[in-house]
Amino acid sequence: MTALSVSTSSAASLRADALVVGVAKGPKGIVLAPGTEAVNEAFEGKLAEVLSTLGATGAEGEAVKVPSPAGLKAALVLAVGLGEAEEGYALEALRCAAGVAARTLAGTKKVALALPVESAEEVEAVALGGLLGSYAFGTYKANGNGKEPVGELVVLAARKGSKDAKAAVERAAAIGEEMNRARDLVNTAPNDLNPKSFAAIAQAAGKEHGLKVEVLDEKALTKGGFGGLLGVGTGSVNPPRLVKVAYTHPKAKATLAFVGKGITYDSGGISLKPAGHNETMKCDMAGAAAVFAAVVAAKRLGLAVNVTGWLALAENMPSGSATRPGDVLRIYGGKTVEVLNTDAEGRLVLADAIVRAGEENPDVIIDVATLTGAMVMALGNRMFGVMANSDELRDDLHALAGEVGEQSWPLPLPADLRKGMTESTIADLANMGDRMGGGLVAGLFLKEFVAEGIDWAHLDIAGPAFHEGAPFGYTPKGGTASAVRTLVRFAERTANAKA
Ligand code: BES
Ligand code: MN
Ligand code: ZN
Repeated sequence: MTALSVSTSSAASLRADALVVGVAKGPKGIVLAPGTEAVNEAFEGKLAEVLSTLGATGAEGEAVKVPSPAGLKAALVLAVGLGEAEEGYALEALRCAAGVAARTLAGTKKVALALPVESAEEVEAVALGGLLGSYAFGTYKANGNGKEPVGELVVLAARKGSKDAKAAVERAAAIGEEMNRARDLVNTAPNDLNPKSFAAIAQAAGKEHGLKVEVLDEKALTKGGFGGLLGVGTGSVNPPRLVKVAYTHPKAKATLAFVGKGITYDSGGISLKPAGHNETMKCDMAGAAAVFAAVVAAKRLGLAVNVTGWLALAENMPSGSATRPGDVLRIYGGKTVEVLNTDAEGRLVLADAIVRAGEENPDVIIDVATLTGAMVMALGNRMFGVMANSDELRDDLHALAGEVGEQSWPLPLPADLRKGMTESTIADLANMGDRMGGGLVAGLFLKEFVAEGIDWAHLDIAGPAFHEGAPFGYTPKGGTASAVRTLVRFAERTANAKA
């Protein structure tokens, strides 16, 4: 794992293998960002000229390597692009630049980051981007990923406020390491990660961090009447689990419940997905991974709020024992659902978990799920949809997501779309309704299971949870840990507001 630290040494004198500086796009060509001073001096004032001769423009995503001249301890200088030149750089530009640097320098032992940072927030952004950009998933490759991730990242910060800078780097480590854990869970092959093994990992990690973890196995689920989880899991040789992870703080004035969809593999079940639609469906537990990561991060940050995570884990497989289209399931708490399409399984396991979470009377329930292909159609691959039973909560989550560098969009839950799920069914509800607006229909289905008087929001992360293209910024191929930062920020804001 990449180590993170902060130093107030000068860029020229710090012993490191590579030194990272920021450059930007100005009206008249490349601009050196603050932090480049000592390096530019070592280049006798010609750093901008050298870099632009090498083709650098300062554009976001750009990385240009130059051997160091005498006067610098590091052997290599890496200039990363920050985009348009600004007075102060956006936190997301800093995260991306640090992420690009960490990816470009994979295989390097020690990297110093001399990016433009003044505030503790900016230090945190650089540290987090660096840590996330260092991520590599090498579990199944003979020699890892060829190159080891950067061994050590040192964020260079001013002597003034260096205590805050140290705290900022610790925060980044807590959030970034838990995000990388979520990415590992998502990337792990579905023949290794099933409900039971996921629950075991949660138990072990919970123990390590002093969190209370309770696991309901198939027997306990049967006894409790969790018909959604049981119905979805019944076609698989790997039975379902409901995991509760609880973080409590003695000074907490509020309790949050985070509920995650944890389908460790979604084949579609009897309503089997066609080829081309199931190769990446190991990512269908990304909501549960995000929830787990967020609870552990809340604990590591010591937030003064109670956070309970609920992981609804099942494997959706076709077989002779699988749920059929036409079956009726009884969700925990008693509502019945006619399963018209076994591929709409996420809402069934979430319904159980949302009802169970509601029994403990939390102030807010937020569920996170790779729920619908319709959401990907609507918002693309990098943005999650936010729906809620309170417009205020919905807009709040959308705004918080933006602050932490996650793209999202607020969406409605139009009451008329509910009809399609209640008409022409022999049960209280069907698990499918109108095809048009499918992401909203799924949201309306979940809303039925939220107890009266509880604020609830739903994040549909089907688009951003799993990245199939080439890496960019601090986002690798595969699991992204989408929604973790939004959940953590929401918990943090709740803790601070009620303190
Ligand atoms: N896990 C899928 C949704 C999904 C699609 C996630 C693409 C990530 C990428 C979900 O269980 C599903 O299959 N949804 C169906 C619902 C439909 C049958 C009502 C869908 O979106 O097609
Ligand atoms: Mn499905
Ligand atoms: Zn699914």
